Amino acid sequence: MDDMIRKAAADLAASRHAVALTGAGISVESGIPPFRGKGGLWEKVDPMVFGNIETFEREPAKVWEVLIKDLKELVDQARPNDGHKGLARLEELRILKTVITQNVDGLHQMAGNTDVIEFHGNCAWQRCMDCGSRIPTAETDISRLPPRCKCNGVLRPDWVFFGESIPVNAMHRARQAAASCDLMLVVGTSAVVQPAAYMPVIAKQSNAKVIEINPQRTPLTRNVSDYLVKGPAGEVMNAIFAELDKLL
Ligand code: APR
Repeated sequence: MDDMIRKAAADLAASRHAVALTGAGISVESGIPPFRGKGGLWEKVDPMVFGNIETFEREPAKVWEVLIKDLKELVDQARPNDGHKGLARLEELRILKTVITQNVDGLHQMAGNTDVIEFHGNCAWQRCMDCGSRIPTAETDISRLPPRCKCNGVLRPDWVFFGESIPVNAMHRARQAAASCDLMLVVGTSAVVQPAAYMPVIAKQSNAKVIEINPQRTPLTRNVSDYLVKGPAGEVMNAIFAELDKLL
């Protein structure tokens, strides 16, 4: 890993406009399990059933019971780890401009990144299916499921279910960010869900350097990424900064 760490530190030191694409893996060290792989959420819950908007519209109480309630509890307790903090420090150093995240946990903003594109929305807010009003998830009473709005409409997380489209503004801004960066850090994503997994391809087509941080290889590793720094995000970010601080 050391050579790759030194390489990543040198590439980041030379970057004038880096962008990050993150996935569930960056939040694993904050206690939120990934979706896929060992111990992943989708091992216990079928995403095509409980992660799908049609199931939610048909049986909101069940989806709240099986998926949303537990995820809400994990997110409520989660705090940024060294992976999130490393990206926030890269923004302070004016190297990183934008984080495109597939995560809905709000940990990048909590770590201090100020330009975060939430590709799949977030679970910090609930939205009424009837009147559209938005209520902070932390203030949502889940003693009865599904929770309801004052108008008695069913409340749903402000995230993107399978079967729904990516928010237009998020899609547009993410494509723009990917096309204008000179370096893309791809951290903690299995890169199997489109269109998020296409952002590194756009970056590559725009001659950016694409660097993955992940304990495992992904479909990007061979065909798109310049190289993979193998390891958990927090540990790798700390090792990169140990080198980067010598170069700045
Ligand atoms: N540090 C970095 N990466 C890690 C760590 C870690 N500590 N632990 C696991 N990983 C990697 C895994 O190797 C895997 O490649 O994080 C990735 C997690 O992949 P997924 O669980 O598929 O998460 P993600 O890529 O974000 O999924 C994309 O799929 O189900 C939908 O909407 C959901 O946004 C999600 C999307």
